Amino acid sequence: MEDRNAFAGRRQRASIGPRAIDSCAVEVQRIGVVGLGAMGAGIAQVAVEAGFDVVGREVTPELGEAAAARIGHFLTRKVEKGQRTEEERDEAVARLTTTTGLEALADCDLVIEAIVEALEPKQALFAELETICRPDAVLATNTSALSVTELAAATSSPERVIGMHFFNPAPLMPLVEVVRAELSSDDAVDTGLAVVERLGKTAVPCHDTPGFVVNRILIPLLNDCVRVLDEARVAPEALDAAMTNGAGWPMGPCALVDLVGIDVHVHASEALYEKLREPRMAPPPRLVAMRNAGLLGRKSGRGFYGY
Ligand code: CAA
Repeated sequence: MEDRNAFAGRRQRASIGPRAIDSCAVEVQRIGVVGLGAMGAGIAQVAVEAGFDVVGREVTPELGEAAAARIGHFLTRKVEKGQRTEEERDEAVARLTTTTGLEALADCDLVIEAIVEALEPKQALFAELETICRPDAVLATNTSALSVTELAAATSSPERVIGMHFFNPAPLMPLVEVVRAELSSDDAVDTGLAVVERLGKTAVPCHDTPGFVVNRILIPLLNDCVRVLDEARVAPEALDAAMTNGAGWPMGPCALVDLVGIDVHVHASEALYEKLREPRMAPPPRLVAMRNAGLLGRKSGRGFYGY
């Protein structure tokens, strides 16, 4: 087990600029993103905007094309709003290629996994990536509630596995938690920190504990909010108005759970409850019923609100 102070020291070095990061960190130019759903497409977008070459992998060409179109749409909106030039948009779009084959990730310096939030498919993916990627490539997971250490254990080179946890929507949220699993190497962690810096985002390095930093706090808080709906007998609109106007939240808790996805939030709650056994972590029955009924929030067109 590594000395925690050593991690704290590295964080300070990393925060004062790229040169201060350990020189053995992998020099990243090409990033693979596996899974181009809302999170993966968002990560791919910020990476091409920051000048990285990105290979995005989806299971069908149609899903890959849909993700590329979504990224193109958001970059075009930036042009329309004067935040980017057309040339910058075209260059960013040209840095993205999509594929259905994992072999296309062989040349990547860093691969970020953003597939379905379940242990077994992620472990199978990491085991396969290990056979395809260069031995020095860093393998990262965007998991929000699973153990990075358990994912790394599916490989024979767990030292190169880290967590890089982006927040939804990834292009707009500045934070990335850079997660050190039990056997992550300093070089792998430093590579993650350096990439986050080049993405122009804020890295918070942390250890591999359930929910890391933000979800350890946010998941039970959102569960409390949903319980208050019934306890205080208020409508979602009223609860959201209360938290935006009374607590300064940028969006209300019901709108936020709709954005994250009811299924994603319930799954993360169950994963944290399983590990921590704290009652507040358990998903409120109201959310479980919504998930079971297919009310998944924005992505299904209906959650607390209609879209
Ligand atoms: N991807 C890319 N670009 C997007 C986007 C997306 N998903 N959504 C919006 N944009 C772009 C659009 O171009 C949009 O401009 P137009 O509408 O003019 O096209 C632009 O961003 C600005 O969008 P908004 O006007 O909606 O931005 P806003 O100022 O209202 O802020 C917000 C939106 C950043 C989402 C803000 O409401 C906020 O911070 N909400 C809280 C979000 C949050 O807490 N996220 C964390 C969720 S928890 C999590 O992710 C952890 C987990 O593991 C589950």
